[in-house]
Amino acid sequence: MKKVFVVILSVLLLYSAGSCKSNNKAESKIEKSVFGKLADGSQVDAYVLKNTNGMTAKIITYGAVVVSLTAPDKSGKYEDVVLGYDNIEGYAADRAYFGAIVGRYGNRIARGKMTIDGKEYQLAINNPPNSLHGGVVGFNKKIWTVDGANVTKNGPAITMTLVSNDGEENYPGTVKLKVVYTLTNNDELSIVYTGATDKTTVLNPTNHSYFNLSGDMNNTILDHEVMIAADKTTPVDRGLIPLGNFADVAGTPMDFRTAKKIGRDINADYEQLKIAGGYDHNWAMNTYDKKVRLIATVYEPNSGRFMKVLSDQPGVQFYTGNFLDGRVKGKNGVMYKKRSGLCLEAQHYPDSPNKPQFPTTLLKPGEIYHQTTIYKFSH
Ligand code: BGC
Repeated sequence: MKKVFVVILSVLLLYSAGSCKSNNKAESKIEKSVFGKLADGSQVDAYVLKNTNGMTAKIITYGAVVVSLTAPDKSGKYEDVVLGYDNIEGYAADRAYFGAIVGRYGNRIARGKMTIDGKEYQLAINNPPNSLHGGVVGFNKKIWTVDGANVTKNGPAITMTLVSNDGEENYPGTVKLKVVYTLTNNDELSIVYTGATDKTTVLNPTNHSYFNLSGDMNNTILDHEVMIAADKTTPVDRGLIPLGNFADVAGTPMDFRTAKKIGRDINADYEQLKIAGGYDHNWAMNTYDKKVRLIATVYEPNSGRFMKVLSDQPGVQFYTGNFLDGRVKGKNGVMYKKRSGLCLEAQHYPDSPNKPQFPTTLLKPGEIYHQTTIYKFSH
């Protein structure tokens, strides 16, 4: 009898512990602080978004940069999974675009030239011989305005806006871009962009976070297993500009249709990999009907962390940190070496303004640019 009583009591205790756990959600909140000051004295603020699971995203007004993002490992432990810097000086000097919203045109435009409505524009050549990520002072080097920071029913959200003036970096038209970051209670970082212009221009922003799901940035990403839902890539020339054709990934090291370790083929004797020093290419997604769908996944076997990338964009630039060289001091003093992070930048194909066969990146007055991209974490 006594034994039965003990068993019943233990079951009751276990049950109440379990239900306690499920109610034991953290409070969703947003905390604002001063991140630092730029050399010209302007202040950069930081917002830490925390969801009900305890996941956090730290976002600063400079470049709308995601400074840190925590994700759960197989034991439920949340650790930072993105590369970045400890302070504003790091971001002001940054040339790797860690965590930033890049624009006006993410990735490259050949020789910085484009023609819109019969007029030729010469953009800055900041990645010779091409223009990269919006030029010398791209969206990543601007202070964004915070239009709202609220805990919504989906999770904490911050709305950031930027006005890019007519003629800035030689692009035509005043562009207004709004980015809403939401850290949902399903452990997703959702990024929703809307934009408009007053003169025909191009707009192709993306988020440039470098992920390392191991949580220890001393590790490389070579063991990460990646899937990309695309049958084709857009092969590039030596300046990483698409040649204009589409190549089947089947039977090549570019085939990520079934998840495989990044390190499996990265050093293969394959011209496209040699040109880029690893993966730094655009994958053309199999479907493009402006609906959000799964475009890629990443799994890190030691931590058990899993990331899904969902987006409505036609392409994704998969970049394996080939240009990191151990000379940049990142968070916690870690020197970021080659392949210590990977980017999956949802966007339009590089050099679309000069490739009429690619989906257009033109934005006309009266039209609304829209993008939704979601990084969803689990284990
Ligand atoms: C590009 C790389 C470039 C990197 C900048 C990526 O989007 O594809 O070639 O080096 O951004 O850090």
